[in-house]
Amino acid sequence: MTTESILTSDQIIELIYRINQRYGYDFSGYSQSSFARRANRIIGLTRMPFKALADKLEKDEKFFTHFIDEIVVNVSAFFRDPIFYIAIKQDIIPILRTYPMIRIWHAGCSTGEEVYSTAILLKESGLLHKSLLYATDISQRALSAAKIGEYAVTELPEFEKNYLEAGGEKKPSDYFNLHNGKICFHDDLKHRMVFSHHNLVADQSFNEFNLILCRNVFIYFNSELQNRVLKLLLSSLTPFGYLGLGSKETVEYTGLAHHFENVNYKARIFRKKISLLQ
Ligand SMILES: C[S@@+](CC[C@H](N)C(=O)[O-])C[C@H]1O[C@@H](n2cnc3c(N)ncnc32)[C@H](O)[C@@H]1O
Repeated sequence: MTTESILTSDQIIELIYRINQRYGYDFSGYSQSSFARRANRIIGLTRMPFKALADKLEKDEKFFTHFIDEIVVNVSAFFRDPIFYIAIKQDIIPILRTYPMIRIWHAGCSTGEEVYSTAILLKESGLLHKSLLYATDISQRALSAAKIGEYAVTELPEFEKNYLEAGGEKKPSDYFNLHNGKICFHDDLKHRMVFSHHNLVADQSFNEFNLILCRNVFIYFNSELQNRVLKLLLSSLTPFGYLGLGSKETVEYTGLAHHFENVNYKARIFRKKISLLQ
């Protein structure tokens, strides 16, 4: 990439402003360094000067969709941070078991590894049949991959390792077939999943959930945006509903910390408190 293709901070601010004006997608609360790095990469790949890129983004909605896919970070893994799943099994499953119907929201589900991991855990706990797993993301490309539920076999070694560490009771291969070098999950897992596009920054709450997983999403937001999104998650939780965050994320230091209690801090699992003075 030539030095001419590196966007200045003023250009980044202008780009974010024009995107918000045109599409109502506000990236001003995202980590500016991560946004700039990715926007610069797009400039390098498309070889478009700033003005051409900004104009095309405004005019071409399809191009904007691809731009979003490139701006966000979609890294994920099966049973990522295994202690999280151990905590879900030990601390949350016994409570969920008492409910007639379980609603779970994977907010920022990326390519779906997390939602398939939860479905496996629910199946091994005998709760999958009465669970619905909603999985949403801002990236259409990630969401399509999640919906298809086919993964490169190169993900298998980490899947097997994490599954074991998470206390998996069977074998990962009990849940998929290998086809054309891909891991293809069985339909009984998929049948309990609902995938849809949802922007945590711009869209409203769409249901009430017993458990929300929003892991490794807040790290890309500044504290003001974390507060805003946390408010949305709080309003989407049932009374005493659970919230699971990523290993480097917390509800502490937000203006809403008093609405949550720690269930398992190491695993970053919190529970919505019910107060008469909300
Ligand atoms: C690093 S991935 C985390 C995936 C998964 N939760 C995990 O922990 O493995 C972050 C995801 O958040 C999504 N994301 C970022 N901003 C978002 C927004 N405003 N609304 C919904 N999803 C968003 C990205 O598209 C990406 O798929």
